[in-house]
Amino acid sequence: MKNKQIHPKNISEAALILRSGKLCSFPTETVYGLGADANDDNAVLAIYQTKNRPNFNPLIIHCADMEMAKTLVDFSPLALELAQFWPGPLTLVLPKKKTAPISDLVSAGLNTLAIRIPANKIAHELLKATGRPLAAPSANPSGKLSPTNAQMVIKSFENKVPVLDGGACEAGLESTILTINDNEIIQLRAGAIAREDIEEKIAKIIKIAKQDDKISAPGMMKSHYAPSASLRLNVNNPNPDEAYLAFGKTQNLPNPIKNLSPLGDLKEAAKNLFSYLNELDDGKIKKIAVAPIPNQGLGEAINDRLKRASTPR
Ligand code: TXA
Ligand code: MG
Repeated sequence: MKNKQIHPKNISEAALILRSGKLCSFPTETVYGLGADANDDNAVLAIYQTKNRPNFNPLIIHCADMEMAKTLVDFSPLALELAQFWPGPLTLVLPKKKTAPISDLVSAGLNTLAIRIPANKIAHELLKATGRPLAAPSANPSGKLSPTNAQMVIKSFENKVPVLDGGACEAGLESTILTINDNEIIQLRAGAIAREDIEEKIAKIIKIAKQDDKISAPGMMKSHYAPSASLRLNVNNPNPDEAYLAFGKTQNLPNPIKNLSPLGDLKEAAKNLFSYLNELDDGKIKKIAVAPIPNQGLGEAINDRLKRASTPR
């Protein structure tokens, strides 16, 4: 495919590419997605091939609105309660309708679908213009850092995929993934909405799925989001040969340094996490030390990503 950057004004051009069965990357409020018509077998297959994604790892479907979502999955009363966070960075894994107009490749043999209605304006307009549910995993090669700006997508796929450029993603972390089992809410992936914030709003407890639970997101690999450099976590004093990903106040250091949030704001840190890791991971730097990040609120998702990024491959 020709190198092509599509300006966000040109949403209709991106919609045309998607409707013709080709891939197009687009921005969401979380990270950039690698989009395809979810009902086109070849387009969905191209996602797996382009990302080098194992075929047992199912894809998230993006919907324009509730009307579209209801053609795909069954909403229990509890699911409808969780859907109040839409549009937004929350993904729900719900029972797939037999009649869902979705390629079988999307759900990788499961009888559930992961879906969300994104809040990002460009994503929303693209979904409306395309008029179809879009399968879109994060637009990174499998196992690597998720892209939070168009340049990261272009770099990852060496210009092979057109990108609808919507600037930097607001949240910078993937969506929180929830499912329901026996009327219990289970978090499959910590993400851009903090578990505590959802719990507070719905006045219910959310359980956390363990890595080896039967109910889990099949794509949550121990090693993921990995830069090329090695990562050392919870470091207050980096070694001379390490670049430093700082958080909050730091003393003057000779190391190459990026500060996720000098004021110690977790929302700002989440937004900067993948792009700063990507900037430090310039090929010359071999080791990155990361400051301790508090484990509450969005810190849960940030620490989850850092842990996976630091796991030896
Ligand atoms: O914020 C996001 O969710 C981004 C943007 C582009 O929307 N997408 C994203 O997709 O992070 P991806 O493919 O990188 O992560 C989706 C996760 C994977 O771990 C996958 O295994 C899980 O969702 N998943 C998909 N379908 C599932 C299902 N039916 N049951 C359980 N987990 C599922
Ligand atoms: Mg991903």
